[in-house]
Amino acid sequence: MSAARIAVLVSGGGTNLQALIDAQGRGEIPHGEIVLVIANKADAYALTRAEQAGIPSVVITKKGCGGDQEAFEDAIIAQLTACDIDLIVLAGFMAILSKRFTDTFEKRILNVHPSLIPSFCGEGFYGLRVHEAALAKGVKVTGATVHYVNEIPDGGEIILQKAVEVQAGDTPETLQRRVMEQAEWKILPRAVELVSEQLSNL
Ligand code: GAR
Repeated sequence: MSAARIAVLVSGGGTNLQALIDAQGRGEIPHGEIVLVIANKADAYALTRAEQAGIPSVVITKKGCGGDQEAFEDAIIAQLTACDIDLIVLAGFMAILSKRFTDTFEKRILNVHPSLIPSFCGEGFYGLRVHEAALAKGVKVTGATVHYVNEIPDGGEIILQKAVEVQAGDTPETLQRRVMEQAEWKILPRAVELVSEQLSNL
C-alpha cells in the first residue's frame, strides 16, 4: 500500500497537530500523509495551522448536527470515508466517540493523552484538568500516552508512553507545557509513523 492517509481530529490550539505537520516536513512520517483535519469547534486555532500547512480542513459541530451524537458521528464518518482515510488521530479532540464509531475504525484510531495511563485518565480527565489532578495528588512523575481508541475513554491498547518530571512550583500550565514539549510532541509523531508503517504493510 502507499502511504497511509491520515485525518487529524482537533478541538483547540492544535500544538499536537503542529508537531505532526513539522514531523512530516522533516520526513519523519514516511509511511503516512496528513490529508485532512476535522475540527468540532469553528474557532479552533488548529484550523489556522492546517490552512498554513495547506491541509484541507472541515468543521463538524455537534450543534450543527442538531445536538445529536449519532448524526455528529455520521457526519464525521462520511468525511473520513469520502477522503479514503486509513488512520484517524485524535489530537486534543475533546469529544467522546461511541462504540459504534470506534468499532467502525478498530485499530485505526489513535489518541494522545497528557498523563501516564492508567493514572489521571477516563471521563472528565482532559486538557488542564489532567495536570491539576496530577499536582493535587502530588505525583513526582507524570507524562503522556499514545493509545488506540476503543469504546472505553482512554482505555485502548497503549502504543507509546514517555515520563516527565514534575518540578517544585509547577502550575497546571507549566506542567502542561513541559508534558507537551518533552513527551506529547515526541511520541505522537513516532506512534503515528509506527502505526502507518503497520497499516502500509497490510
Ligand atoms: C493536549 O495536551 C492533549 O494531550 C490533551 O489536550 C491537549 C490539546 O492540546 N488531550 C486530552 O486531554 C484528551 N483526553 P493541542 O490542541 O495544543 O494539541
